[in-house]
Amino acid sequence: MMFELKNVTRRFGNKTAVDSVTLDIPQGQMVGIIGRSGAGKSTLLRMINRLQEPTSGSIHFAGVEVSSLRGQALRNWQRDCAMIFQQFNLVPRLDVLTNVMLGRLNHRSTAMSLLGIFTRQERIHAIAALERLGIEQTALQMAGTLSGGQQQRVAIARALMQNPKMVLADEPIASLDPLNAKIVMDALRDINEREGITVVTNLHTLDTARNYCERIVGMAAGRVVFDGKPSELTADAVKQIYGTDKDGAGIDETMTSTSINIPAAAAAQQSAGLQSLALAGL
Ligand SMILES: Nc1ncnc2c1ncn2[C@@H]1O[C@H](COP(=O)(O)OP(=O)(O)OP(=O)(O)O)[C@@H](O)[C@H]1O
Ligand SMILES: [Mg+2]
Repeated sequence: MMFELKNVTRRFGNKTAVDSVTLDIPQGQMVGIIGRSGAGKSTLLRMINRLQEPTSGSIHFAGVEVSSLRGQALRNWQRDCAMIFQQFNLVPRLDVLTNVMLGRLNHRSTAMSLLGIFTRQERIHAIAALERLGIEQTALQMAGTLSGGQQQRVAIARALMQNPKMVLADEPIASLDPLNAKIVMDALRDINEREGITVVTNLHTLDTARNYCERIVGMAAGRVVFDGKPSELTADAVKQIYGTDKDGAGIDETMTSTSINIPAAAAAQQSAGLQSLALAGL
């Protein structure tokens, strides 16, 4: 199964956000898309999921042109490629379990969805997804009361409920601290490795892309200017993607890094937590 973008272009007025992008992505790859702000990363992901339409070019999955699907076939495609956003997009006043079950919406009749009736099977499936992400204890809490890292894990659980073939994540860790960023990236890697779900994720930090993605696509001004393995991403390639600063110096890779050490306070808190568990005889 191959996913293909052929000369995909998107214009907004006279601005070309995505400029003739051609990519082949085999099923099961974990791909990181990097580039400066405005490079066209979000627009590209949104066109894959059909939240935005290409101005020209076409998108194909397993031989089907998804860029021309309509009606139920389009909804099926949107179920097949689950989206994850920087701001989680949960319903804050609904409990976590219901938020996760909303991932089933495209699988069921509108009437059942509107009535909020979920089957026992759906509940079991949702709890299993939460367990998998280590947050089953939050199932009955209102989603809005969770930490950012927990909310993003709920969003991943909701995506899993769709049984997707592909997960599209638009800067999934941009609002998280380094510890939660790691938990969320590990979760994406896990679903990629264990279920063979293709993951395409926009990342604004190079080191995350290097650490997690087997393939990195670098965009600049709407075009793909790099496509290769992390080991092939040389200083010159980085300069191609991020450009040079006004003094003509290349960008320093640490400028796009999140790999600050976990703050000492958080580490101390963690070991204190373990100690209290030990004291409680657990
Ligand atoms: N709905 C829109 N209307 C007009 N212009 C748009 C729209 N969406 C995106 N653009 C423009 O298209 C270009 C690419 O935007 P896009 O959001 O895809 O970039 P990005 O790489 O995701 O940036 P960031 O890292 O800041 O999220 C930008 O110049 C942006 O202003
Ligand atoms: Mg963006």
